[in-house]
This record gives sequence, structure tokens and C-alpha cells, in this order.
Amino acid sequence: MSTNSPPQTVTVTIDGAPGQAWAGQSVTAVLVAAGIWPLRRNPVNGQLRGPFCGMGVCLECEVTINGRPGSRSCTAHVTDGMDIRTHTEPLPTAAHG
Ligand code: FES
Repeated sequence: MSTNSPPQTVTVTIDGAPGQAWAGQSVTAVLVAAGIWPLRRNPVNGQLRGPFCGMGVCLECEVTINGRPGSRSCTAHVTDGMDIRTHTEPLPTAAHG
């Protein structure tokens, strides 16, 4: 690919909705550009979390990519047909009886 070629557009699915991205963009960049932040909840205390380090160290950007949970969105690059799922839904509450 020449450096003068226009970027290739790919189609992705974000939380079930179709979207467009540039091939090779980080998944974090695509999500933030789409106005999606935070990306997940802390499974222990339920706090909403989002990208912090941007280099694969903090794990705050984990999403599910193509059915693979725990994928670091900051180090993953979008490809055509990629399915991206965030995890910001409230944690289930324990039943008290
Ligand atoms: S933002 Fe820290 S691992 Fe992705």
C-alpha cells in the first residue's frame, strides 16, 4: 500500500450496531470516536472504567472482540466484520432473602 493511498474503510459492529472505521485504527480509537466511553465495569465494585494507558498495560480498556472477552481494545486493530462488545451494563445484584 502506498502511503498516498486513502485509508480503507471497514465495517464493524459495536454492541450490535453497525459502524464504519478505518482499517488499522485501534479499537479504542473507534469506540471513543463513536462517543462510547466508558467501555466496561470493574467486576468487583461496579465502577465504570475506560482506556487509561493506551499501551496494553492497565487492562482498563478490555472489551469482547469477535467473542473473545478480555481483549485489550487499545492494542487491537479493527478489521472488516469485527464484532466489538463493551461491558457497561450494571452488575447483577445478589438476592437477599
Ligand atoms: S488502555 Fe491500558 S491496556 Fe488498554
